[in-house]
Amino acid sequence: MGLGTRNMPRSPSYLLPCVAALAFLSLTVLVLHKVDDFATQTKTVVGHNLQPTPWHLFPPKTFSEETRQARVYKILHCSYLACSGYTTKSYATERRRSASADAASQKCPEFFKWIRRDLEPWSRTGISKSHLREAREFAAFRVVIVGGRLFVDLYYACVQSRAMFTIWGLLQLLRRYPGMVPDVDIMFDCMDKPSINRTEHGSMPLPLFRYCTTKAHFDIPFPDWSFWGWPETNLNPWDEEFRDIKHGSQKMNWTRRWPRAFWKGNPDVGSPVRTELLNCNHSRKWGAQILRQDWSKEAKEGYEKSKLSNQCNYRYKIYAEGYAWSVSLKYILSCGSLALIISPQYEDFFSRGLIPKKNYWPISFSDLCPSIKYAVDWGNAHPSEATAIGKGGQDFMASLSMNRVYDYMFHLIKEYSKLQHFKPVRPSSALEVCSESLLCLADEKQRQLLEKSIAHPSPTPPCFL
Ligand SMILES: *[C@@H]1O[C@H](CO)[C@@H](O)[C@H](O)[C@H]1NC(C)=O
Ligand SMILES: *[C@@H]1O[C@H](CO)[C@@H](O)[C@H](O)[C@H]1NC(C)=O
Ligand SMILES: *[C@@H]1O[C@H](CO)[C@@H](O)[C@H](O)[C@H]1NC(C)=O
Repeated sequence: MGLGTRNMPRSPSYLLPCVAALAFLSLTVLVLHKVDDFATQTKTVVGHNLQPTPWHLFPPKTFSEETRQARVYKILHCSYLACSGYTTKSYATERRRSASADAASQKCPEFFKWIRRDLEPWSRTGISKSHLREAREFAAFRVVIVGGRLFVDLYYACVQSRAMFTIWGLLQLLRRYPGMVPDVDIMFDCMDKPSINRTEHGSMPLPLFRYCTTKAHFDIPFPDWSFWGWPETNLNPWDEEFRDIKHGSQKMNWTRRWPRAFWKGNPDVGSPVRTELLNCNHSRKWGAQILRQDWSKEAKEGYEKSKLSNQCNYRYKIYAEGYAWSVSLKYILSCGSLALIISPQYEDFFSRGLIPKKNYWPISFSDLCPSIKYAVDWGNAHPSEATAIGKGGQDFMASLSMNRVYDYMFHLIKEYSKLQHFKPVRPSSALEVCSESLLCLADEKQRQLLEKSIAHPSPTPPCFL
């Protein structure tokens, strides 16, 4: 026995290659099927395989890839291959470079003191894992930083490119202060309205980062995506946008500017203030000019008319909240016109530093049109005082450079991390995200803005609190 093969019936000679081919084919199909399956389970910061947040629905996302295969390839390639091996090596060299640099630090702006107030609800209890478990119900994603690497667990899609640009901002913070950002575990919601009501959550405040808060909420404000650019409205990263607006504002001094109050935006965002504002659209009667922004029309015309640097031709610029806070505040204040701020309900991280009659002129919502008219008449009768307040607003925005924005993020994250009762670890469902993987997922326009806002290791330490 043993060598009985001779007696075995021989397979017909054509059968073997056939079986092999068939096996290969089915394996390929299986692999392709599995790969496809895998890709349809991989969530990305662009919004692949994610549903919109249930608390704020928006139309399903469309993706830039032309074919399904292209999408599968991009998702897998960017999500699993783009970060490998990069981070640790380059961080080490960058760290050395920045540590050897001259280390003179300055005091942080006054408004940084709000960090302590925002985190006060956890000052005695600290932040536990169960805090985060509960906050997850309100979060669109979770960001975990461990050893200078960033992991993201995505729960829901965010409207437009908010998630991409927000996470990019965090990655740039890691580049700017290599080795200095502590390990941290953060729940983040990217939609507009604060959700952790102080009354309802009084017994157990939940820590949730978002772009704004109110006095009646525990939500922790964090710089919004537009500081790194906003592709959908053609806005550049903040430093560049500020420079352009300031430059534009210098083309026309106060005397030559229109002695009227100007507002241009989208009034159809469910904002009572903006709806009411439409009633003040009368140049002589209320001293105001209120214009409707049509983004789809602007996009077709190349955004020439919506260029913010061309919108500083009025002595007064009105700020009206949208569905919640509005990113337009920083651009409005940058003009050096007198900013007329209609009593805001929402606060973003920097707006709390603004002082009435120093940086802006407060407008009452209950008496809107007459209140605007009063400010315009006052300013036209007191040009030097009005110019000084306008300049006060512009100077405030000048002091909020990207360096300061990173410093705010740094201190907020650092103070928050001190409250954590546990050591953050990478969640099993989270994927690593790095600058490369994000650039890999970005479309052409997004990539342009992201590349412009790449941060470099800071030669100086952050400002001190
Ligand atoms: C917070 O919750 C309380 C109680 O449900 C409610 O009366 C109040 O209007 C809520 N506040 C906000 C700002 O939504
Ligand atoms: C503003 O510009 C006008 C015309 O260019 C000039 O006559 C005027 O002196 C300027 N005013 C100030 C305050 O600079
Ligand atoms: C405001 O009035 C101007 C001039 O009358 C008009 O062109 C503009 O369309 C009005 N704005 C809105 C939002 O209706």
